[in-house]
Amino acid sequence: MTPRQAVRRPGHDDAARAEELSRRFAELYGHAPDGVWRAPGRVNLIGEHTDYNEGLVLPFAIDRSAMAAVRLRRDPGPAPEHGQEHGPGHGEEREPAGHDVVDLASTWAPDGSGLSRARFRIPQLRPGTVPGWGAYPAGVVHVLDGLDGVEVPGFELLLDSTVPVGAGLSSSHAVEVATVVALNDLLGLGLDRPEMARLTQRAENEFVGAPTGIMDQSASLRARAGAALFLDCRSLEAELVPLPVAEHGLTVLVIDTKVAHSHADGGYGARRASCERGAAALGAATLRDVPDGADLGVLDEETARRVRHVRSENRRVLETVTRLRAGDVRGIGTLLTASHTSLRDDFEVSCPELDLAVDTALAAGAVGARMTGGGFGGSAIALVPAARADRVRDVVTEAFAAAGLRAPDVFAVAPGEGAGRVR
Ligand code: GLA
Repeated sequence: MTPRQAVRRPGHDDAARAEELSRRFAELYGHAPDGVWRAPGRVNLIGEHTDYNEGLVLPFAIDRSAMAAVRLRRDPGPAPEHGQEHGPGHGEEREPAGHDVVDLASTWAPDGSGLSRARFRIPQLRPGTVPGWGAYPAGVVHVLDGLDGVEVPGFELLLDSTVPVGAGLSSSHAVEVATVVALNDLLGLGLDRPEMARLTQRAENEFVGAPTGIMDQSASLRARAGAALFLDCRSLEAELVPLPVAEHGLTVLVIDTKVAHSHADGGYGARRASCERGAAALGAATLRDVPDGADLGVLDEETARRVRHVRSENRRVLETVTRLRAGDVRGIGTLLTASHTSLRDDFEVSCPELDLAVDTALAAGAVGARMTGGGFGGSAIALVPAARADRVRDVVTEAFAAAGLRAPDVFAVAPGEGAGRVR
């Protein structure tokens, strides 16, 4: 057996990464970018499948992020006047490509290939016209360009990301958020963070075609280091709740099962539809409006379980926040595990790999564990005593091997800083 590395967080030096990205940008496009922006992925501590039911969530930003170097195309200036060889704007600032062309390049391609590129003209942008990862920045352009009084000019963008793809850690939302914060700054749009969250959600729903809620973008945009974001997905009111995991001798481990999921596939949408049917049958606009004593007996058995999950999950979020406010970090463990049970049995979005990760982490000493994100694959999280982190990682890895499954990726995460400009 090869010696194992201790579980620790990857040390990402954002400034050095941004400098390297700028260098590669200059190499690729022949000039420096206007700036570099970063947007983190997220882990949802608790509050799953509640966001699109106007419920409560408690995610935090992780120290893995997408980074985008961006340069707006310069206005080519008016055409040369008669007899004038070189009109204003001629020279370095003059772009040969149309002013409405967007050039995208990424060192981050879901298939792991090298530099992947996409190019489109903004007026021709429609859902379905940009395939693959390019749909995320393109969706943001599409939504911003449709705002009253906003005309997005062409630009060049080079992307990289340390958020693993398909792991349920919001790699795609990180790309959307990096794009929106960059364009908001460069175009002086003055959008606030909740507005940017709404717009990137629209990009995801209307352009990418995934019927997801607003949690992931909000976490990337509004979370802060050392805290979880307690968000009311109805009002978008938020509170930063301190999450001093390390100070309490604990670590949050992510267990990426390597089972890929997609929210554009049927399962996620089917759960959402089921919640909407349940609310309608109970005479409510959303599940948030269903009163506590409501009789779920009028629903069919499956819909009743879906509704029961969402309502009990909202209560667990409130209880988690209460315990964290009281400084009882260890005490949230049982709530995390109860959330998993509810997602597995009532909402039915877990899978055997996620259940195995949760069960073995708990057996090896985790104080709580659950799947995180939309489910059907992706990652679980385990709250573990720091001294047992390596042991938990080993036991989970061995259990996957014994079950003949692909080795999971197990790593620690800490609540990191939300999106912003790096240089
Ligand atoms: C995905 C979606 C979120 C949320 C979660 C489930 O991550 O993008 O909006 O619905 O699933 O809680």
